[in-house]
Amino acid sequence: MVGLSHAAVRASLGSFLPPGRRTLWPSEMLNSRRVPAQKENQNPELCFKDIGLGIGPQLLGNEEGPIRESIQHLESFGCIAIDINMGCPVSKALKHNYGVALMGDPQYAQQVTRYAVQSAKVPVSVKLRAGFDKDQENLLPFIEGVFNAGASWVTLHPRTAEQKRRGNANWNLILKAVDQIKRPIIGNGDVQCLEDIERMLNETRCSRVMIGRALLMKPWLLNYDGLGSQEPPPEDQSAIVHRHLIQIIQNCFAWYETAAAFRKLKFFIVYAKPWIEFGEVLHGEFQRSQSQDEMIDRVNRFFLTPKRIWQRTELRA
Ligand SMILES: Cc1cc2nc3c(=O)[nH]c(=O)nc-3n(C[C@H](O)[C@H](O)[C@H](O)COP(=O)(O)O)c2cc1C
Repeated sequence: MVGLSHAAVRASLGSFLPPGRRTLWPSEMLNSRRVPAQKENQNPELCFKDIGLGIGPQLLGNEEGPIRESIQHLESFGCIAIDINMGCPVSKALKHNYGVALMGDPQYAQQVTRYAVQSAKVPVSVKLRAGFDKDQENLLPFIEGVFNAGASWVTLHPRTAEQKRRGNANWNLILKAVDQIKRPIIGNGDVQCLEDIERMLNETRCSRVMIGRALLMKPWLLNYDGLGSQEPPPEDQSAIVHRHLIQIIQNCFAWYETAAAFRKLKFFIVYAKPWIEFGEVLHGEFQRSQSQDEMIDRVNRFFLTPKRIWQRTELRA
Protein backbone atom coordinates (compact mmCIF):
# COMPACT_ATOMS: atom_id res chain seq x y z
CA MET A 1 0.00 0.00 0.00
CA VAL A 2 1.38 3.35 -1.05
CA GLY A 3 2.85 5.18 1.94
CA LEU A 4 2.18 2.24 4.27
CA SER A 5 3.81 -1.06 3.22
CA HIS A 6 7.39 0.11 3.72
CA ALA A 7 10.27 -1.54 5.54
CA ALA A 8 9.74 0.17 8.91
CA VAL A 9 6.16 -1.14 9.14
CA ARG A 10 6.94 -4.56 7.64
CA ALA A 11 9.88 -5.11 10.00
CA SER A 12 7.84 -4.30 13.08
CA LEU A 13 4.98 -6.55 11.99
CA GLY A 14 7.47 -9.26 11.06
CA SER A 15 8.87 -9.22 14.60
CA PHE A 16 5.46 -10.52 15.77
CA LEU A 17 5.37 -13.49 13.39
CA PRO A 18 5.29 -16.72 15.41
CA PRO A 19 8.63 -18.59 15.18
CA GLY A 20 8.99 -20.73 12.08
CA ARG A 21 6.10 -18.99 10.27
CA ARG A 22 6.51 -17.14 6.97
CA THR A 23 4.33 -14.81 4.98
CA LEU A 24 4.93 -12.86 1.78
CA TRP A 25 5.38 -9.14 2.31
CA PRO A 26 4.52 -6.55 -0.35
CA SER A 27 6.16 -3.21 -0.94
CA GLU A 28 4.60 0.09 -1.76
CA MET A 29 3.59 0.32 -5.41
CA LEU A 30 6.85 1.07 -7.27
CA ASN A 31 6.89 2.93 -10.58
CA SER A 32 8.78 0.83 -13.14
CA ARG A 33 10.02 3.98 -14.87
CA ARG A 34 11.81 5.09 -11.71
CA VAL A 35 13.04 1.86 -10.08
CA PRO A 36 15.93 1.07 -12.48
CA ALA A 37 17.77 4.30 -11.63
CA GLN A 38 17.25 4.07 -7.88
CA LYS A 39 19.70 2.61 -5.39
CA GLU A 40 18.72 0.24 -2.62
CA ASN A 41 17.87 2.19 0.56
CA GLN A 42 17.87 5.48 -1.37
CA ASN A 43 14.35 6.20 -0.16
CA PRO A 44 11.78 4.45 2.09
CA GLU A 45 10.06 2.82 -0.89
CA LEU A 46 13.28 1.05 -1.93
CA CYS A 47 14.45 0.31 1.61
CA PHE A 48 14.92 -3.44 2.04
CA LYS A 49 16.54 -3.64 5.49
CA ASP A 50 13.93 -6.31 6.17
CA ILE A 51 14.67 -8.36 3.05
CA GLY A 52 15.01 -11.55 5.14
CA LEU A 53 11.27 -11.49 5.81
CA GLY A 54 10.55 -12.44 2.17
CA ILE A 55 9.55 -9.42 0.08
CA GLY A 56 7.47 -9.49 -3.12
CA PRO A 57 7.51 -5.88 -4.32
CA GLN A 58 4.71 -4.50 -6.44
CA LEU A 59 5.41 -2.80 -9.76
CA LEU A 60 3.31 -0.30 -11.64
CA GLY A 61 4.00 -0.19 -15.34
CA ASN A 62 3.09 -1.16 -18.87
CA GLU A 63 6.35 -1.02 -20.88
CA GLU A 64 8.67 -3.94 -21.50
CA GLY A 65 12.04 -2.23 -20.95
CA PRO A 66 11.25 -0.53 -17.62
CA ILE A 67 9.49 -3.65 -16.33
CA ARG A 68 12.45 -5.87 -17.24
CA GLU A 69 15.03 -3.52 -15.75
CA SER A 70 12.97 -2.98 -12.60
CA ILE A 71 12.57 -6.70 -12.03
CA GLN A 72 16.27 -7.40 -12.51
CA HIS A 73 17.07 -4.58 -10.10
CA LEU A 74 14.61 -5.82 -7.46
CA GLU A 75 15.81 -9.41 -7.82
CA SER A 76 19.38 -8.22 -7.21
CA PHE A 77 18.23 -6.92 -3.81
CA GLY A 78 16.95 -10.41 -2.91
CA CYS A 79 13.21 -10.03 -3.56
CA ILE A 80 11.46 -13.39 -3.85
CA ALA A 81 8.40 -12.53 -5.99
CA ILE A 82 7.09 -9.68 -8.14
CA ASP A 83 3.54 -8.40 -8.23
CA ILE A 84 2.09 -6.35 -11.07
CA ASN A 85 -0.45 -3.73 -10.10
CA MET A 86 -3.67 -3.86 -12.12
CA GLY A 87 -5.85 -2.31 -9.45
CA CYS A 88 -4.69 1.23 -8.78
CA PRO A 89 -7.68 3.49 -9.60
CA VAL A 90 -6.13 6.97 -9.28
CA SER A 91 -6.59 9.29 -12.26
CA LYS A 92 -2.84 9.31 -13.02
CA ALA A 93 -2.92 5.53 -13.50
CA LEU A 94 -5.92 5.82 -15.82
CA LYS A 95 -4.23 8.56 -17.82
CA HIS A 96 -1.03 6.53 -18.26
CA ASN A 97 -2.78 3.21 -18.93
CA TYR A 98 -1.44 1.29 -16.02
CA GLY A 99 -2.92 0.11 -12.71
CA VAL A 100 -6.63 -0.66 -13.15
CA ALA A 101 -6.59 0.85 -16.65
CA LEU A 102 -5.06 -2.46 -17.76
CA MET A 103 -8.31 -4.19 -16.80
CA GLY A 104 -9.93 -2.28 -19.67
CA ASP A 105 -7.52 -3.91 -22.15
CA PRO A 106 -7.22 -7.66 -21.41
CA GLN A 107 -4.86 -8.38 -24.32
CA TYR A 108 -2.44 -5.70 -23.25
CA ALA A 109 -2.70 -6.81 -19.61
CA GLN A 110 -1.60 -10.29 -20.73
CA GLN A 111 1.28 -8.75 -22.64
CA VAL A 112 2.38 -6.83 -19.55
CA THR A 113 2.19 -10.05 -17.49
CA ARG A 114 4.29 -11.81 -20.16
CA TYR A 115 6.91 -9.05 -20.08
CA ALA A 116 7.21 -9.55 -16.34
CA VAL A 117 7.23 -13.34 -16.42
CA GLN A 118 9.87 -13.43 -19.17
CA SER A 119 12.08 -11.03 -17.20
CA ALA A 120 11.75 -12.67 -13.81
CA LYS A 121 13.51 -15.60 -12.17
CA VAL A 122 11.04 -15.35 -9.29
CA PRO A 123 7.25 -15.96 -9.48
CA VAL A 124 5.10 -13.14 -10.85
CA SER A 125 1.62 -12.40 -9.51
CA VAL A 126 -1.05 -9.87 -10.45
CA LYS A 127 -3.19 -7.81 -8.09
CA LEU A 128 -6.47 -6.64 -9.49
CA ARG A 129 -9.93 -5.33 -8.71
CA ALA A 130 -13.44 -6.50 -9.57
CA GLY A 131 -13.22 -4.52 -12.74
CA PHE A 132 -12.85 -1.20 -14.33
CA ASP A 133 -16.48 -0.17 -13.81
CA LYS A 134 -19.82 -1.76 -12.90
CA ASP A 135 -19.56 -4.30 -15.70
CA GLN A 136 -17.92 -7.30 -14.03
CA GLU A 137 -18.65 -9.80 -16.81
CA ASN A 138 -15.09 -9.62 -18.00
CA LEU A 139 -13.49 -10.39 -14.65
CA LEU A 140 -13.13 -14.17 -14.95
CA PRO A 141 -11.84 -14.17 -18.55
CA PHE A 142 -9.47 -11.39 -17.52
CA ILE A 143 -8.08 -13.46 -14.64
CA GLU A 144 -7.79 -16.53 -16.89
CA GLY A 145 -5.86 -14.39 -19.36
CA VAL A 146 -3.21 -13.31 -16.88
CA PHE A 147 -2.81 -16.91 -15.68
CA ASN A 148 -2.36 -18.00 -19.32
CA ALA A 149 0.28 -15.31 -19.65
CA GLY A 150 2.24 -16.93 -16.81
CA ALA A 151 1.04 -15.38 -13.54
CA SER A 152 1.64 -17.76 -10.63
CA TRP A 153 -1.25 -16.39 -8.59
CA VAL A 154 -3.75 -13.53 -8.60
CA THR A 155 -4.81 -11.37 -5.67
CA LEU A 156 -8.36 -10.14 -6.01
CA HIS A 157 -9.64 -7.03 -4.22
CA PRO A 158 -13.29 -7.33 -5.25
CA ARG A 159 -14.29 -3.70 -5.54
CA THR A 160 -14.57 -1.87 -8.86
CA ALA A 161 -12.32 1.02 -9.78
CA GLU A 162 -15.34 3.32 -9.43
CA GLN A 163 -15.89 2.16 -5.84
CA LYS A 164 -12.29 2.91 -4.85
CA ARG A 165 -12.43 1.72 -1.18
CA ARG A 166 -16.11 2.59 -0.57
CA GLY A 167 -18.84 0.00 0.13
CA ASN A 168 -18.16 -3.63 0.95
CA ALA A 169 -15.73 -5.83 -0.90
CA ASN A 170 -17.81 -8.43 -2.81
CA TRP A 171 -16.34 -11.73 -1.58
CA ASN A 172 -18.75 -13.58 -3.89
CA LEU A 173 -16.52 -12.62 -6.79
CA ILE A 174 -13.57 -14.32 -5.06
CA LEU A 175 -15.65 -17.49 -4.70
CA LYS A 176 -16.61 -17.34 -8.39
CA ALA A 177 -13.00 -16.91 -9.46
CA VAL A 178 -11.85 -19.79 -7.21
CA ASP A 179 -14.61 -22.09 -8.45
CA GLN A 180 -14.23 -21.42 -12.14
CA ILE A 181 -10.54 -20.80 -12.61
CA LYS A 182 -9.07 -23.40 -10.24
CA ARG A 183 -5.75 -21.62 -9.91
CA PRO A 184 -4.33 -19.93 -6.79
CA ILE A 185 -6.40 -16.89 -5.87
CA ILE A 186 -5.58 -14.73 -2.86
CA GLY A 187 -8.62 -13.02 -1.37
CA ASN A 188 -8.43 -9.43 -0.16
CA GLY A 189 -10.78 -6.78 1.19
CA ASP A 190 -12.33 -5.92 4.57
CA VAL A 191 -10.52 -8.55 6.64
CA GLN A 192 -10.24 -6.96 10.08
CA CYS A 193 -9.89 -9.76 12.64
CA LEU A 194 -8.97 -13.45 12.95
CA GLU A 195 -12.62 -14.42 12.53
CA ASP A 196 -12.71 -12.55 9.19
CA ILE A 197 -9.69 -14.53 7.94
CA GLU A 198 -11.47 -17.77 8.81
CA ARG A 199 -14.70 -16.55 7.23
CA MET A 200 -13.02 -15.45 4.01
CA LEU A 201 -11.21 -18.79 3.69
CA ASN A 202 -14.44 -20.74 4.33
CA GLU A 203 -16.78 -18.61 2.25
CA THR A 204 -14.54 -18.17 -0.79
CA ARG A 205 -12.15 -21.15 -0.52
CA CYS A 206 -9.37 -18.81 -1.63
CA SER A 207 -5.80 -20.12 -1.31
CA ARG A 208 -4.55 -17.35 0.98
CA VAL A 209 -5.76 -14.07 2.49
CA MET A 210 -4.11 -10.69 2.01
CA ILE A 211 -4.76 -8.12 4.75
CA GLY A 212 -4.22 -4.44 4.05
CA ARG A 213 -5.32 -1.75 6.47
CA ALA A 214 -6.25 -3.71 9.61
CA LEU A 215 -2.85 -5.37 9.80
CA LEU A 216 -1.31 -1.92 10.29
CA MET A 217 -2.66 -1.90 13.84
CA LYS A 218 -3.07 -5.62 14.60
CA PRO A 219 0.15 -7.64 14.40
CA TRP A 220 -1.63 -10.66 15.93
CA LEU A 221 -3.51 -11.23 12.67
CA LEU A 222 -0.25 -12.91 11.62
CA ASN A 223 -0.95 -15.59 14.27
CA TYR A 224 -3.74 -17.13 12.21
CA ASP A 225 -3.02 -20.86 11.90
CA GLY A 226 -6.40 -22.35 10.97
CA LEU A 227 -6.43 -24.25 14.26
CA GLY A 228 -8.63 -21.97 16.28
CA SER A 229 -6.18 -19.10 16.89
CA GLN A 230 -7.64 -16.56 19.34
CA GLU A 231 -7.33 -12.79 19.53
CA PRO A 232 -5.04 -11.83 22.46
CA PRO A 233 -6.83 -10.66 25.64
CA PRO A 234 -7.69 -6.91 25.56
CA GLU A 235 -4.95 -5.85 28.01
CA ASP A 236 -2.34 -7.64 25.87
CA GLN A 237 -3.67 -6.06 22.68
CA SER A 238 -2.98 -2.58 24.01
CA ALA A 239 0.58 -3.57 25.01
CA ILE A 240 1.23 -5.20 21.62
CA VAL A 241 0.03 -2.13 19.71
CA HIS A 242 2.13 0.09 21.97
CA ARG A 243 5.28 -1.95 21.29
CA HIS A 244 4.47 -2.08 17.57
CA LEU A 245 4.09 1.71 17.27
CA ILE A 246 7.35 2.36 19.14
CA GLN A 247 9.17 -0.09 16.86
CA ILE A 248 7.78 1.59 13.74
CA ILE A 249 8.86 5.02 15.00
CA GLN A 250 12.36 3.74 15.80
CA ASN A 251 12.69 1.98 12.44
CA CYS A 252 11.53 5.06 10.51
CA PHE A 253 14.06 7.35 12.16
CA ALA A 254 16.86 4.76 11.95
CA TRP A 255 16.39 3.99 8.26
CA TYR A 256 14.91 7.08 6.60
CA GLU A 257 15.87 10.73 6.39
CA THR A 258 14.16 12.73 9.14
CA ALA A 259 11.65 14.48 6.86
CA ALA A 260 10.70 11.17 5.24
CA ALA A 261 10.36 9.50 8.66
CA PHE A 262 7.89 12.17 9.80
CA ARG A 263 5.98 11.95 6.52
CA LYS A 264 5.64 8.17 6.74
CA LEU A 265 4.65 8.18 10.42
CA LYS A 266 2.04 10.93 10.04
CA PHE A 267 0.53 9.10 7.07
CA PHE A 268 0.62 5.73 8.83
CA ILE A 269 -1.40 6.90 11.80
CA VAL A 270 -4.21 8.21 9.56
CA TYR A 271 -4.86 4.67 8.30
CA ALA A 272 -4.10 2.85 11.57
CA LYS A 273 -6.09 5.02 14.00
CA PRO A 274 -9.62 3.73 13.25
CA TRP A 275 -8.94 0.51 15.20
CA ILE A 276 -7.86 2.06 18.49
CA GLU A 277 -9.87 3.74 21.22
CA PHE A 278 -9.10 7.49 21.20
CA GLY A 279 -7.47 7.09 17.80
CA GLU A 280 -8.01 10.79 17.09
CA VAL A 281 -5.99 11.69 20.18
CA LEU A 282 -3.18 9.36 19.11
CA HIS A 283 -3.32 10.91 15.64
CA GLY A 284 -2.86 14.35 17.22
CA GLU A 285 0.15 13.11 19.22
CA PHE A 286 1.85 11.94 16.02
CA GLN A 287 1.05 15.14 14.11
CA ARG A 288 2.31 17.43 16.91
CA SER A 289 5.63 15.68 17.50
CA GLN A 290 8.76 17.56 16.45
CA SER A 291 11.36 14.85 17.11
CA GLN A 292 11.69 11.11 17.52
CA ASP A 293 12.05 11.45 21.29
CA GLU A 294 8.97 13.63 21.54
CA MET A 295 6.91 11.18 19.45
CA ILE A 296 8.01 8.23 21.57
CA ASP A 297 7.30 10.17 24.74
CA ARG A 298 3.81 11.16 23.54
CA VAL A 299 3.00 7.60 22.49
CA ASN A 300 4.25 6.23 25.84
CA ARG A 301 2.01 8.68 27.69
CA PHE A 302 -0.97 7.79 25.50
CA PHE A 303 -0.60 4.14 26.53
CA LEU A 304 -0.24 4.85 30.29
CA THR A 305 -3.92 3.88 30.35
CA PRO A 306 -4.43 0.73 28.24
CA LYS A 307 -6.58 1.33 25.18
CA ARG A 308 -9.18 -0.93 23.61
CA ILE A 309 -8.63 -2.20 20.08
CA TRP A 310 -11.79 -2.54 18.01
CA GLN A 311 -12.51 -5.91 16.44
CA ARG A 312 -14.05 -4.20 13.42
CA THR A 313 -14.77 -0.63 12.41
CA GLU A 314 -16.78 1.02 9.67
CA LEU A 315 -14.64 4.13 9.96
CA ARG A 316 -11.55 2.86 8.20
CA ALA A 317 -10.06 5.28 5.71
C1 LIG B 1 -3.40 4.27 1.47
C2 LIG B 1 -3.61 3.03 0.64
C3 LIG B 1 -2.74 2.77 -0.39
C4 LIG B 1 -2.92 1.63 -1.18
N1 LIG B 1 -2.00 1.36 -2.14
C5 LIG B 1 -2.08 0.21 -2.83
C6 LIG B 1 -1.06 -0.16 -3.74
O1 LIG B 1 -0.07 0.55 -3.91
N2 LIG B 1 -1.18 -1.33 -4.41
C7 LIG B 1 -2.25 -2.15 -4.22
O2 LIG B 1 -2.31 -3.21 -4.85
N3 LIG B 1 -3.23 -1.84 -3.36
C8 LIG B 1 -3.16 -0.69 -2.66
N4 LIG B 1 -4.14 -0.38 -1.75
C9 LIG B 1 -5.31 -1.27 -1.61
C10 LIG B 1 -5.03 -2.38 -0.60
O3 LIG B 1 -3.95 -3.18 -1.00
C11 LIG B 1 -6.25 -3.29 -0.43
O4 LIG B 1 -6.54 -3.90 -1.67
C12 LIG B 1 -7.49 -2.55 0.06
O5 LIG B 1 -7.17 -1.63 1.08
C13 LIG B 1 -8.54 -3.56 0.59
O6 LIG B 1 -7.99 -4.41 1.56
P1 LIG B 1 -8.15 -4.12 3.16
O7 LIG B 1 -9.62 -3.96 3.43
O8 LIG B 1 -7.55 -5.34 3.82
O9 LIG B 1 -7.40 -2.85 3.45
C14 LIG B 1 -3.99 0.75 -0.94
C15 LIG B 1 -4.86 1.01 0.12
C16 LIG B 1 -4.67 2.13 0.91
C17 LIG B 1 -5.60 2.38 2.07
